[in-house]
Amino acid sequence: MKKSAFLLCIILGLFSCNENKEMGNNRISVKNFQNHDQHSFAMPQEALITHLNWDASIDFDSKTIEAVARFDIRKSPKAHEIVLDSKNLDIKKVWRNENDTVELDLKDANELLGQALHIPLNKDTKTISIQYKTSPNAEALQWLSAQQTAGNSPFLFTQSQAILCRSWIPIQDSPGIRFTYEANVKVPEGNLALMSAENPQKIDSTGNYSFKMKQPIPAYLMALAVGDLEYYKTGPETGIYAEPATLDKAIEDLEDLQSFLETAEELYGKYRWDQFDVLVLPPSFPFGGMENPRLTFATPTILSGDKSLVSLIAHELAHSWSGNLVTNATWDDFWLNEGFTVYFEYRIMETLYGKDYSEMLASISLKELKEESKELIDNGNPKDTHLKLDLSGRNPDVGMTAIAYDKGYFFLRKIEELTGRGNFDTFLKQYFNEYAFESINTEQFLLYMEQNLFGKNDIELPKDLFSNWVYGAGIPNDLPKPNSERFRNVEQSIANWLKTENIDTLKTQYWSTHEFLHFFHQLPDSIDYAEVKLLDEKFDFTNSSNSEILTEWFLLSIKKEFKPAYGAMENFLINTGRKKFLMPIYGELIKTETGKSIALNIYKKARENYHYVSYNSLDKLLNYKTD
Ligand code: BES
Ligand code: ZN
Repeated sequence: MKKSAFLLCIILGLFSCNENKEMGNNRISVKNFQNHDQHSFAMPQEALITHLNWDASIDFDSKTIEAVARFDIRKSPKAHEIVLDSKNLDIKKVWRNENDTVELDLKDANELLGQALHIPLNKDTKTISIQYKTSPNAEALQWLSAQQTAGNSPFLFTQSQAILCRSWIPIQDSPGIRFTYEANVKVPEGNLALMSAENPQKIDSTGNYSFKMKQPIPAYLMALAVGDLEYYKTGPETGIYAEPATLDKAIEDLEDLQSFLETAEELYGKYRWDQFDVLVLPPSFPFGGMENPRLTFATPTILSGDKSLVSLIAHELAHSWSGNLVTNATWDDFWLNEGFTVYFEYRIMETLYGKDYSEMLASISLKELKEESKELIDNGNPKDTHLKLDLSGRNPDVGMTAIAYDKGYFFLRKIEELTGRGNFDTFLKQYFNEYAFESINTEQFLLYMEQNLFGKNDIELPKDLFSNWVYGAGIPNDLPKPNSERFRNVEQSIANWLKTENIDTLKTQYWSTHEFLHFFHQLPDSIDYAEVKLLDEKFDFTNSSNSEILTEWFLLSIKKEFKPAYGAMENFLINTGRKKFLMPIYGELIKTETGKSIALNIYKKARENYHYVSYNSLDKLLNYKTD
């Protein structure tokens, strides 16, 4: 984009962003709604939800939730309806206030967005209520049988981001719309229920739980988990929930949660959500982590026994500022959530473990950025390498690439280099306070930064900085370069091994997981079967309990057709549902005809263990048809 066009955007943003409208007795700000959210049917300029009262009953036998969602609303004087998002819900009844029933007005289904639910309003409407039942195939929900968990009781968890909340609650499912909530949830006896809210710490024999979230959140942060769970307190504001069979292992890796929280607070200001707990889920959880407020959801695949994968927890914690406190207004601004969070994650890790540690993480970011940027450009999608995305008509999950995360990170690192760490930190603290509990778009952020970081400190803003980084394709020339001595040692070690042909020259005693990952990334293509075998004899990678290392090992084994690893690989694919591991392994397998049939055979057995988020992508990758 030309500088002049960019300036125009900024100016337009400036006018609309200061606009405030009088709405009935309440002033509501429309500043975040100038950019229509393409992924929601809601019409926030007309009417908004402000508070949810959710009454629900969970049934494992039918895999359904029956519930009433009652919303307090705020409307403009002229509003004649409120529009909610819903997907695959069986809506039984809709009413206003106490019992003013209205006819169901549910529009035709859109495959991606679901159905718009229109509810007429009159001047007395204060609340709207929807009685409904979820579908057993609700996309956000994963129902696990007792056999699919670590213990022997069934389990339910949700994954709402990006636009799946509407499959379990009819709601305005847009990151620009926030509300507080309360809930009463009835679960089968013997289970604990947890939400992204104030949580119980012990199983209640009646199976009735109540929840309260007093800070306003967007719908993608709505979360629920039900199962046989125990709690372990790690500090005054932190703790761990896990299945009893997993709890000890979880404590080993996550016992330092409290110091993570304190480190983060020192960097960017007070933690605004009172409590920070981590729920370690069964292995089918499709992501590494999900920043549900007060209760981060995490995959058990970060439990390596040596705390070497805990940067993921620093990442989810960092979202308590970037993402949960200041939220991307639409999914096109996703880098505001993730790029900031990666930057903040590495700052937390730098403080706790030193610069030589965080520079390993930054180097891995650079590798991922280079690979993904090239792939997107080679596949004819250069615009998907802009920080500001255009995801209209597409699933917002498409935006979950190294661009938002790693290009976002390097852009902020660039800003830090240009303005100095002290100035940047002061600015970030101010930014999180200024926009606390609001949603913001890219243009608002850039303008705010131009004025409050560059302008205020009298630092010149390089001419093409925003047009190259935010509205331009690929990797800008002024990319900051990470410098990792620990990774250089790994490279040296590989060179020695290959030169001497003596595997004992590989000195891995002090290597963390990251060094092993770099080791795999740096192995030359010329490595042959015999060397792969030697590696396994020395390190027993096939039986590693570290899922990051296993994934790299399986990729190498597939490339070199090292069959002794295939049994362990099948086991891993059947038992792990984390998309980040599944996609590359299946992707490597299907490169050959034999590999393809191995992949399909495994997938047939494994698919039922995966969450929708994972099997939806894998069905496409493997061209798998369900009947
Ligand atoms: N919020 C994301 C997960 C997400 C993004 C879910 C988009 C659905 C749509 C979470 O904070 C995240 O980034 N998780 C990463 C871990 C992280 C260390 C990069 C993951 O799960 O891999
Ligand atoms: Zn994240």
